[in-house]
Amino acid sequence: MSERTLVLLKPDAVRRGLVGPILARYEAKGLRILAMEQRHIDAKVADAHYHEHVERDFYPPLRDFVTSGPLVAVALEGEEAIAVVRAINGATDGRKAAPGTIRGDWSLSNRENLVHGSDGVESATYELNLWFPDLSVS
Ligand code: RTP
Ligand code: MG
Repeated sequence: MSERTLVLLKPDAVRRGLVGPILARYEAKGLRILAMEQRHIDAKVADAHYHEHVERDFYPPLRDFVTSGPLVAVALEGEEAIAVVRAINGATDGRKAAPGTIRGDWSLSNRENLVHGSDGVESATYELNLWFPDLSVS
């Protein structure tokens, strides 16, 4: 089933010049870019995006990280796009992520792990509406 999902290429990806190589993996897989924008977000947007995590111990440094520089938000579409993107991204902790995944190949951190992908249909809908409110439904 065709799905849409929200990907963030986090500030470490932009700083390290990995936007192109990361995007190439999603494109080569067959996912379609519906919308893309580079943004430097403030704490308010970070809190809205990570609303499920704002009370967690790891959130304050995560907020500092995601607001530390520009990131690139991408809306992707394709068959089972939500799960496919998370498989391409790899496990949260780059030290444990499998080689061949974005995090497994390029991240050595549990926080600075290069990418975000929506984790379900509900979060994808919420996040796409937050980042790309003007995206049409068709
Ligand atoms: P994401 O939301 O970014 O796609 O990553 P995820 O589902 O694999 O991981 P999640 O549990 O949603 O965590 C969101 C982001 O918070 C940072 N994090 N730090 N213990 C820690 O220091 C810790 N745990 C998570 C990571 O940047 C993670 O991607
Ligand atoms: Mg998550």
